[in-house]
Amino acid sequence: MEKNIFSFEGSIRGHDRAGITGRLGMAFWLYGLSGSGKSVISRLAEEKLFSMGILCYRLDGDNLRSGLNSDLGFSKKDRDENIRRAAETAKLLADAGVIVISAFITPLEKNRITAKNILGGLYNGVYIKCDIRTCIERDPKGLYKKAVSGEIEDFTGISAPFDEKSGDDLVIDTVLHNADECADILVRHILSKTALEQ
Ligand code: ADX
Repeated sequence: MEKNIFSFEGSIRGHDRAGITGRLGMAFWLYGLSGSGKSVISRLAEEKLFSMGILCYRLDGDNLRSGLNSDLGFSKKDRDENIRRAAETAKLLADAGVIVISAFITPLEKNRITAKNILGGLYNGVYIKCDIRTCIERDPKGLYKKAVSGEIEDFTGISAPFDEKSGDDLVIDTVLHNADECADILVRHILSKTALEQ
């Protein structure tokens, strides 16, 4: 695939850019069921970081699927490709010195491993925990209703698989904490992981 391709490295590295932003560029990979709260928590966390003067950018599954990933559906193969492209995008942004908060269901352990392999040391997994019954009750987009009635196929948690938490990732429990508290937990985690002096 990479025949006749020669990567051309610049002399400025990630840690050089950190000298300008005052923080390490990193990706915080939020994963969890649809309706678990990934998008809401990432938006609140972004606002909190922004108000502290910290550069941060969100990558959201629904948003990327209307642009970069608009050719992809929800088969296993398309989800793999969705996560691969999202992780490559997060890697570019993090390398540019940005703190990235990604919100993708990332349903399978193997999808998280893909993101982790692409991002290497820039990857920080965060499981946004919510049981399927609560997600069905919340149903913010009315999609679970459609999935249960068979109107949507391959819906995560209903007719497509979802693997529980991976490894020692941070867990944010959205049943125990409200959205603002969850965002505070995420912000504290981000501040500690991106500090220049560790
Ligand atoms: S992922 O599985 O490939 O990681 P992603 O996070 O990009 O998914 O997109 C999930 C969003 O797409 C959901 O929040 C929901 O709004 C929408 N969606 C539409 N169809 C499906 C489906 N079959 N399964 C899950 N989410 C779906």
